[in-house]
Amino acid sequence: MSRTESFSGEVLRVVRGDRSGVAIAVAIHSTARGPAIGGCRIKAYPSWRAGVDDALRLSAAMTTKCALAGLPYGGGKTVAALPAEGIDPARRPGLIADIAEAIAALGGRYRTGPDIGSTSEDMADIHRLAHGWAFCRPENQGGSGTSSAATARGVLAALQAGVAPGPVAGLRVGVIGFGSVGRLICEALIERGAEVVVTDVEDGLRPVAERLGASWTTADLVREPLDVLVPAATGGLLTVESAAACGASLIVGPANNQIVAEEVATVLRDRGIAWIPDVVASAGGIIHAVGREELGMSEQTANAKIDAIGDTANSVLSLARERGLTTARAARELAALV
Ligand code: PHE
Repeated sequence: MSRTESFSGEVLRVVRGDRSGVAIAVAIHSTARGPAIGGCRIKAYPSWRAGVDDALRLSAAMTTKCALAGLPYGGGKTVAALPAEGIDPARRPGLIADIAEAIAALGGRYRTGPDIGSTSEDMADIHRLAHGWAFCRPENQGGSGTSSAATARGVLAALQAGVAPGPVAGLRVGVIGFGSVGRLICEALIERGAEVVVTDVEDGLRPVAERLGASWTTADLVREPLDVLVPAATGGLLTVESAAACGASLIVGPANNQIVAEEVATVLRDRGIAWIPDVVASAGGIIHAVGREELGMSEQTANAKIDAIGDTANSVLSLARERGLTTARAARELAALV
C-alpha cells in the first residue's frame, strides 16, 4: 500500500535565477525555535530536482542541529543546483545576486551562511543585497568570518568525547576531505599526537597534507582499519554497503548528511561502530556565527558553547547505548528534549 508523503517543512521556494538561469531552492524546515538558518550550497547536481531534494534534507538536519546545540533558531538551507559543467566564473556574480534575491524575499525568516561552494565574501555580497540575512561575512566587513575554525573545534570536542577516557595521541585517524575544515582537524590531531591519514579527490593537496605531517592515500578510507574515521567531504559517504565494510571504531566529522538512509545507522549500531551524528559534531560553525553576530556572545563564551558539543556527543552515545537505539535516533530524541 502506498502512502502519500506529507511535507514536513514550512516553505520551499524554488526559482530560476533571472541573471544566472540556475535553479535555486531555499527550504525552511522549521521556525518553531526561531528564524531558520542554514548554509548556501552552490554545487553541480545531476538535476535541479536532486538539488531541491538536497535542500529539503539538509534543512531538516539543520533544525535538529540547532536544537541539539541549544540555539534559538530553526533549520533552513539554500541550494543552487549548477549544471554538471558548473558555471562560468563571469556569471557567478549574477548567481549570487539571484540567491540574495531569493533569500531577501523571505524577509528574514531564513538566514544563510557559507557552505560547500560559497565563501565569506559571497556572504558579504548576499548580506548587502539581501538586507542583512547572511552570517559569516569577513571580519573586516563586520561579520564573524569563516566558520571553519569553529566547526573544526566542535568536531574535535566530539571526537575527544568519543574516544574518552583515552587520549587522542597514538590513535590512527583517517580524514576524508582536505578542505578548509578537514585541514584544520588534521592539523589539530597531528599536534595532539595522532597518526593521521588523509584523502581528497583533489590530488594537488597532497603536498600540503604531507607538509603538515599527515600521510596521503588514494585508498577508500571507509574500509581501512582505523580508530577514528572523520568524514569531512560532501555528504552521503555512508551507505549500507560501506557501513558493512567500515573498518573504524568511531566515526565523527563535519560533513553534513553522512548517512544516506536511516538504516545505515542501524548497520553501524549492530556492528558496534560508534557514530556521532553530523547534526551533533558539525554545530561549531553555527554556534560561533549566531553567537557572535546575533546572540551577543564573547569569543570565549562561544568557544565554551562549542566545546560543550563534547557533552552533547556523550549524551547521545550514552542514550543510544542505554536504550539500544541508533545514535541517529538518540540525537533526535535528545533534540526534542532541549
Ligand atoms: N555550513 C553551515 C551550516 O549549514 C552554514 C552556516 C554557518 C549557516 C553559519 C548559518 C550560520 O551548518
